Amino acid sequence: MNVRDSERLATVLASFGHEVVDSEDVADVYILNTCSVREQAEIKAVGKSRYLARKKLRKGDVLLGIVGCMAENLAENLFKLNPGIDFIVGPRCIGELPELLSNGNINRVALLGEAKADDITESVHNFSRRNVCASVSIMQGCNMKCSYCIVPKTRGRETYRSMEDIVAECEALVKNGTKEITLLGQIVNNYGQNTLANGNGKSPFVQLLERIDSIPGLGRIRYMSPHPKGFRRDLIAAHARLAKLCPSVHLPVQSGSDRILKAMRRPYTRARVLFIVEALRNCAPNISLTTDIIVGYPGEGEVDFQETVDLLSAVRFNMAFIFKYSPRVGTISATLPDDVSDDEKDRRNKVLLDIVQRCSIEHNETMVGNEVEVLVEGKAKRGENKLCGHTKYGDKVIFDGHDTLTGEFANVKITNYSTTVLCGELIGV
Ligand code: 5AD
Ligand code: SF4
Repeated sequence: MNVRDSERLATVLASFGHEVVDSEDVADVYILNTCSVREQAEIKAVGKSRYLARKKLRKGDVLLGIVGCMAENLAENLFKLNPGIDFIVGPRCIGELPELLSNGNINRVALLGEAKADDITESVHNFSRRNVCASVSIMQGCNMKCSYCIVPKTRGRETYRSMEDIVAECEALVKNGTKEITLLGQIVNNYGQNTLANGNGKSPFVQLLERIDSIPGLGRIRYMSPHPKGFRRDLIAAHARLAKLCPSVHLPVQSGSDRILKAMRRPYTRARVLFIVEALRNCAPNISLTTDIIVGYPGEGEVDFQETVDLLSAVRFNMAFIFKYSPRVGTISATLPDDVSDDEKDRRNKVLLDIVQRCSIEHNETMVGNEVEVLVEGKAKRGENKLCGHTKYGDKVIFDGHDTLTGEFANVKITNYSTTVLCGELIGV
Protein backbone atom coordinates (compact mmCIF):
# COMPACT_ATOMS: atom_id res chain seq x y z
CA MET A 1 0.00 0.00 0.00
CA ASN A 2 2.86 2.37 0.78
CA VAL A 3 4.52 1.60 -2.54
CA ARG A 4 1.27 2.49 -4.29
CA ASP A 5 0.96 5.71 -2.25
CA SER A 6 4.51 6.71 -3.21
CA GLU A 7 3.84 5.92 -6.87
CA ARG A 8 0.71 8.05 -7.13
CA LEU A 9 2.35 10.88 -5.20
CA ALA A 10 5.40 10.90 -7.49
CA THR A 11 3.21 10.81 -10.61
CA VAL A 12 0.88 13.57 -9.50
CA LEU A 13 3.79 15.79 -8.43
CA ALA A 14 5.34 15.27 -11.87
CA SER A 15 2.10 16.51 -13.43
CA PHE A 16 2.47 19.67 -11.31
CA GLY A 17 5.86 20.35 -12.87
CA HIS A 18 8.07 18.59 -10.33
CA GLU A 19 10.62 16.03 -11.37
CA VAL A 20 11.48 12.83 -9.51
CA VAL A 21 15.26 12.54 -9.14
CA ASP A 22 17.45 9.56 -8.35
CA SER A 23 19.52 11.06 -5.59
CA GLU A 24 18.96 13.20 -2.50
CA ASP A 25 22.03 15.19 -3.57
CA VAL A 26 20.13 16.89 -6.39
CA ALA A 27 16.65 17.08 -4.81
CA ASP A 28 15.17 20.29 -3.47
CA VAL A 29 12.30 18.57 -1.68
CA TYR A 30 12.69 15.42 0.38
CA ILE A 31 9.48 13.47 0.92
CA LEU A 32 9.70 10.50 3.24
CA ASN A 33 6.74 8.11 3.04
CA THR A 34 6.39 6.24 6.30
CA CYS A 35 4.73 3.28 8.05
CA SER A 36 3.69 3.07 11.70
CA VAL A 37 2.43 -0.46 11.94
CA ARG A 38 5.34 -1.68 14.03
CA GLU A 39 7.75 0.18 16.28
CA GLN A 40 10.71 -0.87 14.14
CA ALA A 41 9.21 0.84 11.08
CA GLU A 42 8.91 4.12 12.99
CA ILE A 43 12.41 3.89 14.47
CA LYS A 44 13.78 3.46 10.94
CA ALA A 45 11.73 6.38 9.57
CA VAL A 46 12.75 8.72 12.41
CA GLY A 47 16.40 7.74 11.79
CA LYS A 48 16.10 8.41 8.07
CA SER A 49 14.35 11.77 8.71
CA ARG A 50 17.27 12.83 10.95
CA TYR A 51 19.73 11.84 8.23
CA LEU A 52 17.75 13.92 5.71
CA ALA A 53 17.58 16.88 8.13
CA ARG A 54 21.39 16.84 8.43
CA LYS A 55 21.69 16.69 4.66
CA LYS A 56 19.25 19.58 4.35
CA LEU A 57 21.29 21.67 6.79
CA ARG A 58 24.42 21.16 4.69
CA LYS A 59 22.64 21.88 1.40
CA GLY A 60 20.31 24.70 2.47
CA ASP A 61 17.17 25.69 0.57
CA VAL A 62 15.64 22.23 0.75
CA LEU A 63 12.23 21.22 2.14
CA LEU A 64 11.76 18.09 4.23
CA GLY A 65 8.33 16.49 4.50
CA ILE A 66 7.11 13.36 6.27
CA VAL A 67 4.04 11.74 4.75
CA GLY A 68 2.03 8.62 5.57
CA CYS A 69 1.09 6.84 8.77
CA MET A 70 3.94 8.06 10.98
CA ALA A 71 3.00 11.67 10.17
CA GLU A 72 -0.56 10.93 11.28
CA ASN A 73 0.50 8.93 14.32
CA LEU A 74 3.12 11.24 15.81
CA ALA A 75 1.50 14.43 14.41
CA GLU A 76 3.01 17.75 15.57
CA ASN A 77 5.35 15.89 17.97
CA LEU A 78 7.42 15.15 14.87
CA PHE A 79 8.42 18.83 14.67
CA LYS A 80 9.86 18.55 18.20
CA LEU A 81 11.46 15.17 17.50
CA ASN A 82 13.16 16.56 14.41
CA PRO A 83 13.21 20.39 14.06
CA GLY A 84 14.40 20.02 10.45
CA ILE A 85 10.95 18.87 9.30
CA ASP A 86 8.98 21.48 7.30
CA PHE A 87 5.68 19.68 6.69
CA ILE A 88 3.80 16.55 7.69
CA VAL A 89 0.98 15.00 5.68
CA GLY A 90 -1.19 12.09 6.86
CA PRO A 91 -2.23 9.27 4.50
CA ARG A 92 -5.70 10.71 3.91
CA CYS A 93 -4.28 14.11 2.87
CA ILE A 94 -1.69 12.94 0.32
CA GLY A 95 -3.88 14.42 -2.45
CA GLU A 96 -3.39 17.90 -0.94
CA LEU A 97 0.40 17.77 -1.16
CA PRO A 98 0.79 19.20 -4.71
CA GLU A 99 -1.21 22.29 -3.70
CA LEU A 100 0.82 22.65 -0.51
CA LEU A 101 4.08 22.58 -2.49
CA SER A 102 2.77 25.18 -4.96
CA ASN A 103 2.03 27.59 -2.09
CA GLY A 104 5.68 28.05 -1.17
CA ASN A 105 6.40 29.54 2.25
CA ILE A 106 6.07 26.24 4.05
CA ASN A 107 6.82 26.47 7.73
CA ARG A 108 5.79 23.57 9.94
CA VAL A 109 2.59 22.80 8.12
CA ALA A 110 0.52 19.79 9.25
CA LEU A 111 -2.17 18.26 7.01
CA LEU A 112 -3.72 15.52 9.12
CA GLY A 113 -7.02 13.71 9.68
CA GLU A 114 -9.78 13.63 7.09
CA ALA A 115 -9.02 15.17 3.69
CA LYS A 116 -10.80 18.40 2.78
CA ALA A 117 -11.84 17.07 -0.65
CA ASP A 118 -11.94 13.83 -2.63
CA ASP A 119 -8.45 12.55 -3.31
CA ILE A 120 -7.76 13.12 -7.01
CA THR A 121 -4.50 11.16 -6.83
CA GLU A 122 -6.24 7.88 -5.99
CA SER A 123 -6.52 6.71 -9.61
CA VAL A 124 -3.27 8.25 -10.87
CA HIS A 125 -0.75 5.96 -12.61
CA ASN A 126 2.36 6.71 -14.59
CA PHE A 127 1.09 5.87 -18.09
CA SER A 128 4.30 7.08 -19.74
CA ARG A 129 5.78 3.64 -19.03
CA ARG A 130 4.24 0.21 -19.15
CA ASN A 131 3.52 -1.45 -15.83
CA VAL A 132 3.19 -5.20 -16.37
CA CYS A 133 1.89 -5.55 -12.82
CA ALA A 134 -0.11 -2.68 -11.33
CA SER A 135 -1.88 -2.03 -8.04
CA VAL A 136 -5.32 -0.46 -7.79
CA SER A 137 -6.49 0.87 -4.46
CA ILE A 138 -10.20 0.13 -4.00
CA MET A 139 -10.75 1.40 -0.47
CA GLN A 140 -9.07 3.29 2.33
CA GLY A 141 -9.16 2.83 6.10
CA CYS A 142 -10.34 0.06 8.39
CA ASN A 143 -13.38 -0.25 10.66
CA MET A 144 -12.00 -3.14 12.71
CA LYS A 145 -10.50 -2.65 16.12
CA CYS A 146 -7.78 -5.27 16.38
CA SER A 147 -6.29 -4.55 19.78
CA TYR A 148 -2.67 -4.21 18.60
CA CYS A 149 -3.19 -2.23 15.41
CA ILE A 150 -2.52 1.45 14.74
CA VAL A 151 -4.06 1.46 11.25
CA PRO A 152 -7.61 2.58 12.20
CA LYS A 153 -6.01 5.60 13.93
CA THR A 154 -3.73 6.53 11.02
CA ARG A 155 -5.96 5.71 8.05
CA GLY A 156 -9.40 6.32 9.53
CA ARG A 157 -12.70 4.62 8.81
CA GLU A 158 -13.39 2.63 5.67
CA THR A 159 -14.24 4.54 2.51
CA TYR A 160 -14.86 2.74 -0.77
CA ARG A 161 -14.25 3.95 -4.31
CA SER A 162 -17.07 3.46 -6.79
CA MET A 163 -17.05 0.24 -8.79
CA GLU A 164 -17.28 2.26 -12.02
CA ASP A 165 -14.11 4.23 -11.19
CA ILE A 166 -12.19 1.12 -10.23
CA VAL A 167 -13.20 -0.80 -13.38
CA ALA A 168 -12.37 2.23 -15.58
CA GLU A 169 -8.94 2.46 -13.93
CA CYS A 170 -8.30 -1.25 -14.53
CA GLU A 171 -9.37 -0.91 -18.19
CA ALA A 172 -7.02 2.05 -18.69
CA LEU A 173 -4.13 0.08 -17.17
CA VAL A 174 -4.82 -2.93 -19.41
CA LYS A 175 -4.94 -0.66 -22.48
CA ASN A 176 -1.49 0.55 -21.46
CA GLY A 177 -0.09 -3.00 -21.31
CA THR A 178 -0.80 -4.11 -17.75
CA LYS A 179 -1.32 -7.87 -17.49
CA GLU A 180 -1.74 -8.33 -13.75
CA ILE A 181 -3.75 -6.19 -11.33
CA THR A 182 -3.60 -6.35 -7.55
CA LEU A 183 -6.60 -4.85 -5.80
CA LEU A 184 -5.49 -3.10 -2.63
CA GLY A 185 -7.24 -2.30 0.61
CA GLN A 186 -6.49 -2.47 4.31
CA ILE A 187 -9.20 -5.11 4.50
CA VAL A 188 -9.82 -5.55 0.82
CA ASN A 189 -12.60 -8.15 0.98
CA ASN A 190 -14.69 -5.79 3.09
CA TYR A 191 -15.11 -3.60 0.00
CA GLY A 192 -18.56 -1.99 -0.13
CA GLN A 193 -19.83 -3.59 3.11
CA ASN A 194 -23.04 -1.95 4.28
CA THR A 195 -22.76 0.56 1.44
CA LEU A 196 -23.16 -1.40 -1.79
CA ALA A 197 -25.79 -4.12 -2.13
CA ASN A 198 -25.16 -7.86 -2.26
CA GLY A 199 -26.36 -9.30 -5.58
CA ASN A 200 -27.32 -12.98 -6.05
CA GLY A 201 -25.67 -13.75 -2.73
CA LYS A 202 -22.45 -12.15 -3.88
CA SER A 203 -20.68 -9.49 -1.83
CA PRO A 204 -19.69 -6.21 -3.51
CA PHE A 205 -16.06 -7.44 -3.49
CA VAL A 206 -16.95 -10.58 -5.44
CA GLN A 207 -19.07 -8.53 -7.85
CA LEU A 208 -16.04 -6.30 -8.42
CA LEU A 209 -13.79 -9.33 -9.01
CA GLU A 210 -16.27 -10.60 -11.62
CA ARG A 211 -16.27 -7.31 -13.49
CA ILE A 212 -12.49 -7.09 -13.54
CA ASP A 213 -12.23 -10.75 -14.55
CA SER A 214 -14.16 -9.94 -17.73
CA ILE A 215 -11.76 -7.20 -18.93
CA PRO A 216 -10.26 -8.50 -22.21
CA GLY A 217 -6.46 -8.50 -22.30
CA LEU A 218 -6.01 -8.75 -18.55
CA GLY A 219 -4.24 -11.95 -17.49
CA ARG A 220 -4.31 -12.11 -13.71
CA ILE A 221 -6.04 -10.65 -10.65
CA ARG A 222 -4.74 -10.67 -7.09
CA TYR A 223 -5.95 -8.92 -3.95
CA MET A 224 -4.19 -7.72 -0.80
CA SER A 225 -4.84 -7.81 2.18
CA PRO A 226 -8.00 -9.72 2.91
CA HIS A 227 -9.34 -10.53 6.39
CA PRO A 228 -10.26 -14.12 7.33
CA LYS A 229 -13.74 -12.93 8.34
CA GLY A 230 -14.41 -11.98 4.70
CA PHE A 231 -13.83 -15.51 3.34
CA ARG A 232 -17.47 -16.46 2.94
CA ARG A 233 -18.83 -18.97 0.46
CA ASP A 234 -19.05 -16.46 -2.43
CA LEU A 235 -15.37 -15.45 -2.28
CA ILE A 236 -14.15 -19.01 -1.82
CA ALA A 237 -16.26 -20.13 -4.80
CA ALA A 238 -14.91 -17.24 -6.89
CA HIS A 239 -11.53 -18.97 -6.76
CA ALA A 240 -13.01 -21.93 -8.62
CA ARG A 241 -15.05 -19.83 -11.04
CA LEU A 242 -13.02 -16.80 -12.12
CA ALA A 243 -10.37 -17.73 -14.65
CA LYS A 244 -8.07 -14.77 -13.97
CA LEU A 245 -8.20 -14.87 -10.18
CA CYS A 246 -4.81 -16.21 -9.07
CA PRO A 247 -4.73 -19.32 -6.87
CA SER A 248 -2.81 -17.40 -4.25
CA VAL A 249 -4.25 -15.91 -1.06
CA HIS A 250 -2.76 -14.00 1.85
CA LEU A 251 -4.67 -15.09 4.96
CA PRO A 252 -3.34 -13.12 7.93
CA VAL A 253 -4.22 -15.32 10.91
CA GLN A 254 -2.00 -13.57 13.54
CA SER A 255 -2.18 -16.47 16.03
CA GLY A 256 -3.21 -20.12 16.29
CA SER A 257 -4.58 -19.71 19.82
CA ASP A 258 -8.28 -18.97 20.23
CA ARG A 259 -7.55 -17.30 23.55
CA ILE A 260 -5.05 -14.89 21.96
CA LEU A 261 -7.28 -14.31 18.90
CA LYS A 262 -10.05 -13.24 21.27
CA ALA A 263 -7.67 -10.95 23.18
CA MET A 264 -6.57 -9.47 19.84
CA ARG A 265 -10.25 -8.93 18.96
CA ARG A 266 -9.88 -11.02 15.82
CA PRO A 267 -13.41 -12.31 15.14
CA TYR A 268 -12.62 -15.92 14.11
CA THR A 269 -11.25 -19.11 15.60
CA ARG A 270 -8.48 -21.49 14.68
CA ALA A 271 -11.14 -24.00 13.54
CA ARG A 272 -12.58 -21.38 11.18
CA VAL A 273 -9.10 -20.78 9.69
CA LEU A 274 -8.70 -24.53 9.06
CA PHE A 275 -12.16 -24.62 7.47
CA ILE A 276 -11.31 -21.69 5.12
CA VAL A 277 -8.00 -23.31 4.16
CA GLU A 278 -9.69 -26.60 3.30
CA ALA A 279 -12.48 -24.88 1.37
CA LEU A 280 -9.97 -22.80 -0.64
CA ARG A 281 -7.89 -25.90 -1.38
CA ASN A 282 -11.00 -27.73 -2.59
CA CYS A 283 -11.87 -24.85 -4.93
CA ALA A 284 -8.37 -24.14 -6.18
CA PRO A 285 -6.05 -27.16 -5.96
CA ASN A 286 -2.44 -26.28 -5.03
CA ILE A 287 -3.53 -22.77 -4.04
CA SER A 288 -0.65 -20.91 -2.43
CA LEU A 289 -1.35 -19.56 1.05
CA THR A 290 0.64 -16.98 2.97
CA THR A 291 0.04 -15.42 6.37
CA ASP A 292 1.03 -12.87 9.03
CA ILE A 293 1.76 -13.97 12.59
CA ILE A 294 2.46 -11.88 15.68
CA VAL A 295 4.56 -13.54 18.39
CA GLY A 296 4.75 -12.33 21.98
CA TYR A 297 1.35 -10.66 22.22
CA PRO A 298 0.65 -9.70 25.91
CA GLY A 299 -0.19 -12.82 27.86
CA GLU A 300 0.88 -15.24 25.09
CA GLY A 301 2.03 -18.32 27.00
CA GLU A 302 3.87 -21.41 25.81
CA VAL A 303 0.57 -23.26 25.26
CA ASP A 304 -0.76 -20.44 23.04
CA PHE A 305 2.51 -20.35 21.14
CA GLN A 306 2.46 -24.12 20.57
CA GLU A 307 -1.02 -23.72 19.06
CA THR A 308 0.46 -21.28 16.54
CA VAL A 309 3.31 -23.73 15.84
CA ASP A 310 0.72 -26.48 15.27
CA LEU A 311 -1.37 -24.27 12.99
CA LEU A 312 1.64 -23.39 10.81
CA SER A 313 2.63 -27.06 10.63
CA ALA A 314 -0.94 -28.15 9.86
CA VAL A 315 -1.62 -25.57 7.14
CA ARG A 316 1.88 -25.56 5.62
CA PHE A 317 1.73 -21.95 4.46
CA ASN A 318 3.92 -21.22 1.44
CA MET A 319 5.22 -18.17 3.26
CA ALA A 320 4.58 -16.46 6.59
CA PHE A 321 5.60 -13.02 7.77
CA ILE A 322 6.41 -13.29 11.46
CA PHE A 323 6.35 -10.12 13.57
CA LYS A 324 7.47 -9.60 17.13
CA TYR A 325 4.71 -7.78 18.99
CA SER A 326 5.43 -4.10 19.65
CA PRO A 327 2.99 -1.91 21.59
CA ARG A 328 1.70 1.06 19.57
CA VAL A 329 0.57 4.06 21.59
CA GLY A 330 -3.14 4.69 21.09
CA THR A 331 -4.05 1.03 20.52
CA ILE A 332 -6.07 -1.06 22.98
CA SER A 333 -3.25 -3.48 23.77
CA ALA A 334 -0.76 -0.68 24.50
CA THR A 335 -2.34 -0.41 27.96
CA LEU A 336 -1.50 -4.07 28.70
CA PRO A 337 1.89 -5.11 30.10
CA ASP A 338 4.24 -6.11 27.25
CA ASP A 339 5.08 -9.19 29.31
CA VAL A 340 6.84 -11.52 26.86
CA SER A 341 10.57 -10.75 27.03
CA ASP A 342 12.52 -9.72 23.92
CA ASP A 343 14.59 -12.91 24.14
CA GLU A 344 11.44 -15.03 24.22
CA LYS A 345 9.94 -13.11 21.28
CA ASP A 346 13.20 -13.75 19.38
CA ARG A 347 13.02 -17.45 20.19
CA ARG A 348 9.39 -17.79 19.08
CA ASN A 349 10.15 -15.78 15.96
CA LYS A 350 12.99 -18.15 15.09
CA VAL A 351 10.96 -21.32 15.73
CA LEU A 352 8.24 -20.13 13.33
CA LEU A 353 10.71 -18.91 10.72
CA ASP A 354 12.36 -22.34 10.73
CA ILE A 355 8.99 -24.01 10.03
CA VAL A 356 8.21 -21.55 7.23
CA GLN A 357 11.64 -21.99 5.66
CA ARG A 358 11.33 -25.75 5.77
CA CYS A 359 7.89 -25.65 4.11
CA SER A 360 9.20 -23.24 1.51
CA ILE A 361 12.25 -25.36 0.64
CA GLU A 362 10.16 -28.54 0.48
CA HIS A 363 7.71 -26.80 -1.85
CA ASN A 364 10.51 -25.46 -4.07
CA GLU A 365 12.07 -28.93 -4.22
CA THR A 366 8.84 -30.40 -5.60
CA MET A 367 8.84 -27.74 -8.33
CA VAL A 368 12.12 -28.91 -9.93
CA GLY A 369 11.40 -30.50 -13.32
CA ASN A 370 7.96 -28.83 -13.61
CA GLU A 371 7.02 -26.51 -16.44
CA VAL A 372 5.39 -23.31 -15.16
CA GLU A 373 3.85 -20.23 -16.74
CA VAL A 374 5.64 -17.03 -15.73
CA LEU A 375 4.43 -13.50 -16.33
CA VAL A 376 7.68 -11.75 -17.25
CA GLU A 377 7.99 -8.52 -15.26
CA GLY A 378 11.39 -7.44 -16.63
CA LYS A 379 15.10 -7.82 -16.04
CA ALA A 380 16.13 -9.46 -12.77
CA LYS A 381 17.97 -7.20 -10.33
CA ARG A 382 21.10 -9.34 -10.60
CA GLY A 383 22.64 -11.28 -13.48
CA GLU A 384 23.22 -10.46 -17.17
CA ASN A 385 20.29 -11.43 -19.42
CA LYS A 386 18.30 -12.71 -16.46
CA LEU A 387 14.55 -12.14 -16.46
CA CYS A 388 12.25 -12.17 -13.48
CA GLY A 389 8.55 -12.88 -13.01
CA HIS A 390 6.02 -14.83 -10.96
CA THR A 391 3.79 -17.83 -11.51
CA LYS A 392 0.09 -17.43 -10.81
CA TYR A 393 0.75 -19.14 -7.47
CA GLY A 394 3.13 -16.31 -6.57
CA ASP A 395 6.41 -18.24 -6.94
CA LYS A 396 9.22 -15.96 -8.04
CA VAL A 397 11.09 -17.35 -11.06
CA ILE A 398 14.42 -16.24 -12.61
CA PHE A 399 15.57 -17.45 -16.02
CA ASP A 400 17.75 -16.45 -19.01
CA GLY A 401 16.03 -14.46 -21.73
CA HIS A 402 15.85 -11.18 -23.60
CA ASP A 403 13.87 -8.33 -22.05
CA THR A 404 11.68 -8.09 -25.19
CA LEU A 405 9.79 -10.87 -23.38
CA THR A 406 8.67 -8.38 -20.71
CA GLY A 407 4.88 -8.55 -20.39
CA GLU A 408 4.65 -11.99 -22.03
CA PHE A 409 3.59 -15.24 -20.43
CA ALA A 410 6.64 -17.50 -20.75
CA ASN A 411 6.82 -21.27 -20.22
CA VAL A 412 9.76 -22.07 -18.03
CA LYS A 413 11.16 -25.40 -16.87
CA ILE A 414 12.33 -25.25 -13.25
CA THR A 415 15.89 -26.54 -12.83
CA ASN A 416 17.01 -25.22 -9.45
CA TYR A 417 15.88 -23.22 -6.40
CA SER A 418 16.84 -21.29 -3.28
CA THR A 419 14.59 -20.61 -0.25
CA THR A 420 12.82 -17.73 -1.97
CA VAL A 421 13.38 -18.12 -5.74
CA LEU A 422 12.94 -20.77 -8.43
CA CYS A 423 15.45 -20.82 -11.30
CA GLY A 424 14.61 -22.23 -14.71
CA GLU A 425 15.09 -22.43 -18.48
CA LEU A 426 12.89 -20.78 -21.05
CA ILE A 427 10.89 -23.32 -23.07
CA GLY A 428 8.75 -20.94 -25.10
CA VAL A 429 6.13 -18.20 -25.01
N1 5AD B 1 3.14 -5.46 16.61
C1 5AD B 1 3.62 -6.42 15.79
N2 5AD B 1 3.08 -6.69 14.59
C2 5AD B 1 2.01 -5.96 14.20
N3 5AD B 1 1.26 -5.99 13.08
C3 5AD B 1 0.32 -5.04 13.17
N4 5AD B 1 0.43 -4.38 14.34
C4 5AD B 1 1.47 -4.94 15.00
C5 5AD B 1 2.08 -4.70 16.26
N5 5AD B 1 1.63 -3.77 17.10
C6 5AD B 1 1.49 -6.96 11.99
C7 5AD B 1 0.24 -7.84 11.76
C8 5AD B 1 -0.30 -7.30 10.46
C9 5AD B 1 0.96 -6.85 9.75
C10 5AD B 1 0.79 -5.89 8.65
O1 5AD B 1 1.72 -6.25 10.79
O2 5AD B 1 0.66 -9.17 11.60
O3 5AD B 1 -1.01 -8.28 9.70
FE1 SF4 C 1 -5.36 -3.44 11.58
FE2 SF4 C 1 -6.00 -5.27 9.69
FE3 SF4 C 1 -7.16 -5.34 12.17
FE4 SF4 C 1 -7.76 -3.37 10.41
S1 SF4 C 1 -8.18 -5.60 10.16
S2 SF4 C 1 -7.35 -3.12 12.62
S3 SF4 C 1 -5.77 -3.01 9.41
S4 SF4 C 1 -4.94 -5.68 11.65
